[in-house]
Amino acid sequence: MTLGLCEALWLRLLLQDLGYLSKQPIRFFCDNKAACDIAHNPVQHDRTKHVEVDRFFIKEKLDDKIVKLPKIRSEDQLADNLTKVVSSQVFSKFLDKLGSYALLGAKVGGDAAVVERLRKAGAVILGKASMSEWYQFRSLKTRNGWCPRSGQGVNPYVPSGDPCESNSGSAISVAANMVAVSLGTETDGSIICPADVNSVVGFKPTIGLTSRCRGTKLRVYTGVIPISPRQDSVGPICWSVLDAVYVLDAIVGFDPRDGEATKEASKFIPVGGYKQFLNKDGIAGKRLGVVRNPFSGFYNRSTAISAFEAHLTVLRQRGAILVDNLEIENVDIILNPYESGESTALLAEFKLNINEYLKELTHSPVRSLAGIIAFNLNNSDLEKTDEYGQEVFIAAEMTNGIGKQERMAMEMMANLSQDGFEKLMMENKLDATVALGSGMATVLAIGGYPGVSVPAGYDGDGMPFGICFGGLKGMEPKLIEVAYGFEQATKIRRPPTSPNNLLCPNEPL
Ligand SMILES: *[C@@H]1O[C@H](CO)[C@@H](O)[C@H](O)[C@H]1NC(C)=O
Ligand SMILES: *[C@@H]1O[C@H](CO)[C@@H](O)[C@H](O)[C@H]1NC(C)=O
Ligand SMILES: *[C@@H]1O[C@H](CO)[C@@H](O)[C@H](O)[C@H]1NC(C)=O
Ligand SMILES: *[C@@H]1O[C@H](CO)[C@@H](O)[C@H](O)[C@H]1NC(C)=O
Repeated sequence: MTLGLCEALWLRLLLQDLGYLSKQPIRFFCDNKAACDIAHNPVQHDRTKHVEVDRFFIKEKLDDKIVKLPKIRSEDQLADNLTKVVSSQVFSKFLDKLGSYALLGAKVGGDAAVVERLRKAGAVILGKASMSEWYQFRSLKTRNGWCPRSGQGVNPYVPSGDPCESNSGSAISVAANMVAVSLGTETDGSIICPADVNSVVGFKPTIGLTSRCRGTKLRVYTGVIPISPRQDSVGPICWSVLDAVYVLDAIVGFDPRDGEATKEASKFIPVGGYKQFLNKDGIAGKRLGVVRNPFSGFYNRSTAISAFEAHLTVLRQRGAILVDNLEIENVDIILNPYESGESTALLAEFKLNINEYLKELTHSPVRSLAGIIAFNLNNSDLEKTDEYGQEVFIAAEMTNGIGKQERMAMEMMANLSQDGFEKLMMENKLDATVALGSGMATVLAIGGYPGVSVPAGYDGDGMPFGICFGGLKGMEPKLIEVAYGFEQATKIRRPPTSPNNLLCPNEPL
C-alpha cells in the first residue's frame, strides 16, 4: 500500500463525519481494496482541544492535492476550521466513550497521566482508537474488535482475520500506518495479543511503571478506564521496538494520583532512561528460556512453528544461551481463569473500580455498573444485548467487594506466579523467556510482569504472528536488549499489502 494513502482515506472519512464533505465524489481515488478496508476501520476520529499541530498534517494533504474539496475556496481556511473552530464544538462531542452507547456524552476531568506525559514530550494526539466492547469484559460472546458505536475492527493483513481483543484499534491504527504510535492498556493480553496478530510491537510494562491515574479524594479522577489496579498496565503499541522504547521513556514514572504502584515501580527506572538499551548486539550472552508448551501447540498447521525454530537459531547465532523446553509449573491452572482465581478477583475488582471511575467523571449518563447493565437492557438494539449478552457484567455486579474468596483468589495467583514464572526465571538464571504467539500474556498478567511482542512472521494466509519475550518485574532493560536485538537481526515486519489489488467497488473518494 502506498504510504500515506491510508492516512488520506482516513482524513476523508473524518471530514465526512464532521459534515465537511457532501456525498459527491472528490478528486481522490482509491484502487486498493485493502486500503479501503483499513480506512473503514473504526478508528474513532476523536479530537481534543490540543489539535493545533494536526493542522500541518491536514494542510499537507490539501497542499499535495491528495484531498481536494470543491466547496471550500480557501484551503487554509479549512485547515483552520478543522482545528480551531470545529475543535471545541464538534470534536468534543466525540470524546471519551469507549465503544459503548452507555457512555455517549461522558466527559473526563482531564487527560490521563500517560497522555499528559506524551503531550509534554511533544506528541500530537490524533484520537482514540476503537476497542472491543468494554475490553471484552461485558460478555464472552462479543466479537474481538467489535463495539456498538464503531462496528467491527478489521485486521489490516487479513480482513477476515482476528484483530484480537480490547486494544485492537490501537494495534490496527499503527499497523495500517494511520498513526506512528499508540497506547493500549493490558489487563490480560490486551497489548501483547493485538500486537501479535496485527504485526506490530506491543510493550506491556511492569505494573505501576506507567500511571493508571487512580484518583485521590482530593483530585478529579481521570485516566484509564479500569478493570484491576493489580493487573492494568498502560504501554506502547508501535511499528518498532525503537519507537516503543521512545514512548516508554516518555510515559513512565511516579504519579501521586497512582501513588502506591508508581512509587513501587519507579525504582526500576534506570538513570538515563530506556533508550540506552537499544543495543543491536543486546542478545549476546543473554540466557533465554524457551517455553514451548503449551504455547507452540496453538499453532498446529502453521508455518509459525518452523519460523519459531529459525528465530531460535538466529538468537543462538547472536550469542544467546537458550535453555530449551522449559515448563511453567501449573501452567494449565494459570491459563484457566476459573481455576487460577483470576476470574474471581477481576469480577470484584472491576465492579469496585468502574463504579469509582464513573462516579468521578465530570459528566456521564451512567454512574455505576448497574446503570450500564440497565442501559444495555434498555437499548438492546444499539448494544446488541440480546445477541451478545452481558453475562460478565452481571456476574461482576453480583460481587460484593474484596472478601475472603477474593483474597484467596489473589493469594492463589501470587502463589502460582511464585511457583511458576518466578521460579522458572530464578532457577534457570534467565534474562527473559521466549515463546511463540501471545499465550504467554496470561502468565505475565497475573504476576504483574512485563512482556513484549515483536513481529515474527506471517502464515500461509498472510496472518501475522509474533514472538513474546517476558521478564520479572523491572526487567525492561533486558527485555529491550533482547527484543531490539531480535528485531534488528530478523526485520520481519512489513506493512500490510493488498493481495489482489482489487478495485474498491463504487468508492468515489
Ligand atoms: C470556517 O470558519 C469561518 C469563520 O471562522 C466561517 O466563516 C466559515 O464559514 C467556515 N467554513 C466552513 C466550511 O465551515
Ligand atoms: C494438530 O493437528 C492434528 C491433525 O490435524 C490433530 O490431530 C491434533 O489434535 C492437532 N493438535 C492441536 C494441539 O490442535
Ligand atoms: C429506559 O428507556 C425508557 C424509555 O425510553 C426511559 O424512560 C428510561 O429512563 C430508560 N432507562 C434506562 C436505565 O436507561
Ligand atoms: C499460598 O502459599 C502459601 C505458602 O506455601 C500457603 O500457605 C497458602 O495456603 C497458599 N495459598 C493459596 C490460596 O493457595
